Formats: sequence, C-alpha cells, structure tokens
Amino acid sequence: MNESLPSRSALSSRSPGLSGRIRVPGDKSVSHRALMFGGISDGETRITGLLEGEDVLRTGDAMRAMGAKIRCDGEAWVVTGTGNGCLLEPAAPFDFGNAGTGSRLIMGLVGTYDMTTRFIGDASLSKRPMGRVLEPLRQMGTQVLEAQEGDRLPITLQGPKHAAPITYRVPVPSAQVKSAVLLAGLNTPGITTVIEPVMTRDHTEKMLAGFGASVEVEKDDDGVRHIRLEGQGRLAGRAIEVPGDPSSAAFPLVAALIVPGSDIVIENVLMNPTRTGLILTLQEMNADIEIQNRRDAGGEEVADLRVRSSELKAVSVPAERAPFMIDEYPVLSMAAAFAEGETLMQGLAELRVKESDRLAAVAAGLKANGIDCTEGEDYLAVRGRPGGKGLGGGAVETHLDHRIAMSFLVLGLATEQPVTVDDREIIATSFPEFMPLMHNLGAKIE
Ligand code: S3P
Repeated sequence: MNESLPSRSALSSRSPGLSGRIRVPGDKSVSHRALMFGGISDGETRITGLLEGEDVLRTGDAMRAMGAKIRCDGEAWVVTGTGNGCLLEPAAPFDFGNAGTGSRLIMGLVGTYDMTTRFIGDASLSKRPMGRVLEPLRQMGTQVLEAQEGDRLPITLQGPKHAAPITYRVPVPSAQVKSAVLLAGLNTPGITTVIEPVMTRDHTEKMLAGFGASVEVEKDDDGVRHIRLEGQGRLAGRAIEVPGDPSSAAFPLVAALIVPGSDIVIENVLMNPTRTGLILTLQEMNADIEIQNRRDAGGEEVADLRVRSSELKAVSVPAERAPFMIDEYPVLSMAAAFAEGETLMQGLAELRVKESDRLAAVAAGLKANGIDCTEGEDYLAVRGRPGGKGLGGGAVETHLDHRIAMSFLVLGLATEQPVTVDDREIIATSFPEFMPLMHNLGAKIE
C-alpha cells in the first residue's frame, strides 16, 4: 500500500498484458430479485452464485425484517418465504444504503400492503428521484406519508386496505419502475398491466413466471410490450442459479482491450440480450471478443468471453441501445479514450440520475486525465488517443458511485501516468472481489 495515498483512495498504473481466467460475481439484478421473490414464495428457494455485495445484502435484510428466513448453507443461500401477500410490517426503517434497485423494487413490493414502511439511504440514494415509483403506487392507493423535496428519501409509505390494479405506461425506460409496479401488483386483486414502450431488462417478468406467477407478455402492432400480471396468486420456491454479472464483467473486459498484450477469459457471463449492448458496441469498435461455450443456465443463456487487446475504432452508439447497456457507459467511455476517432454516445439522459450524475462524473474524470471530450445534456463525445500517450495523472471524484470508481481504475491501467480515484470502498456495493480479481489478472492497482 502506498503510504502517501489517503485511506479510501486507490491508484492504478500502467500494467503489463493481463492474463488469466476469471469468474465475476453473480448478476446484481437477478440477485436482488432472487431474494425478493424467494422471500414471498411458499417453501424454499435455494440460490447459488448470489452476489454478496452490500446492495444485495440490504435487500436480504429487508426481506428478513418482513418475515422471510434467509440462511447460508455452504455455497448456497436458502430463503424460506412467507407466501405471497403474507409479509409482516417491519419494526424499523429499511436502510438501503446506496441501492437504487433494492429500494425502488421493495417500495413496489410493500406499497400495496396495509402497513407502514420507512425508507432511508446514503447521500447518493437520498438524491435520487423516487417519484417515478411513487406515482404509480399513489394510483394503486398507497399513501406517501413522508417524502423530501422532489420525492426523495427518507420516504414513509402506508399501503391501502384494498389496492387497485392499474394499467401503467412507463414514462421513462426503467426496469426498476416496471418492476416496482409489477411487484405492487402481486398483492393486488385482478390484473396489473405495465406498458413498456421501450424494452428494458426483463428479469422481473421472466423470474416471476419461473416462480409460478401468472404473467403474460404480449407485443402490440407497434412493437410495444404489454406485461399483465394476475395478483394474489401463489408463488413457489425454486432453485436459482445466478449467472455472472455482465455489468461487472465489463471492467476486466475493457481493461483487457486497452492494456496491450492482454488475453483473458471471463467465464459464465449472462448473455440475456437486454444486457449485452456493451459487447455489441465494443465488437463494432473492432474489439477482439470471442463468445465461447454458449449454454443455458437455469433459463438464461451464459457464455465465456475470451478478450484480447485490440486497436479500437470510434463509433456512434445509437440512442435506442441505451437501455441494453445503461450501466456500461462509464466503462465504455474508458475504451473510447483509446479508440481512433470520436465516439459519440447519445440518449444518455438517464445517466444523470444514477448513483451519481454519471455524465458529469465521467466527463470531469476524463478531462482530469487529459482526455478530450464534450458533455452534452444527454450525450457524450470522447476523442480517443490510441496508445494513451500523455494521458492520466488525474484525480477522480467518485461521488459514491461504484461504477465511476472501477471505470477510472481501468483507465489508469493503460494511461501513461497513473490514475487516482478518491473512494475504493464504494466498489463493495456491487463488486467486492474487484481488487483481488484484477490483481490476479496482473493489474497494478494499489
Ligand atoms: C436495474 C435497472 C436499471 C439499472 C440498475 C439495475 C434493475 O435502472 O441501471 O443498475 O435491476 O432493474 P433503471 O431502472 O433506473 O434504468
């Protein structure tokens, strides 16, 4: 450990070619949902490959506080559910820390119960808009007893005696909003319908069907998805195998592309088409990514990714692809910093309301490290410098955002000068094994 580094910071330096085979931790979206759906099912749900990151563990705490039993059994987590409609009122507020997915989905889940729940979180989560979830919940009968300006945390909800099913057209492309409405529908009589003009990750509807919920997805003549869920049905516990998180795999993947002489394999990565926008984009940029051993793992496709360093070319990323790679723009921007030409990323308005304002945080970090870029209201243009000569040497503010921290640590592996990030601890929210795993590949991060 470098004595001159402040305790929370980390520094990454130009590294020799990365090599080795790794497995990234379980998918965060699937992990949250496995604990929630297991927690409201009858019987036992046995989960292997669960992401043991802070965000997911807080979802586990919330489900326990409402009556689910969750225990570790060797490599597996075993959840004994309460049964659908049978959650108990929690004795204390839910502290969701940094977790947008956990807090928003649980708001939906409990919003139609005749009970009082309070939600708190860290400074990042307390800045994020919750109105997008409260709006449909209010229509279903939920009272918002407390909310801060702009519908922000801390928030207290009181569910109705009898919830009303709604048909809700999701106004922003958000899997969290879609999911919150569907989860509220689980404890509501009749059919709750979500209309999704722009498709987002489909884990909620797929997994609920797997747990035995009556859920139907239909596309209308305009290609718009209508998701109908019949409330108050029985869910049955089952085995869940959580595949590797493509959003975590993105970091070693981009690192291997930009560090010359690298050749790595990332095993068991989820290949659900709503999550693979980054791989597609990088392939268009001339990235050498071989998709090997495609196979089924419990209803989802997974594959191993062989990644070798590549001479990247700039591309224009279509705005329509944003929902399929929404969490990957920070790390894609690091790849763009080494690509020949200008990479244009459009349709990024949602990046402003993630764990940080990611558009601003990425642009500031790139500029601090000598990378030429333009930040628009909803786009980012990055002008790359292949070889990374003269780049780096900057200090990056992470703003309590794990993906900003990891992205810039990846950048520093290939720039001429090292890159410092001010907060290594936030990485544990989604990827606690990031440091040792990168060290195993030969990355110089201290
Ligand atoms: C998630 C949905 C996305 C994504 C987040 C996980 C989910 O958020 O950014 O990391 O598991 O549903 P939005 O719904 O806000 O787009």
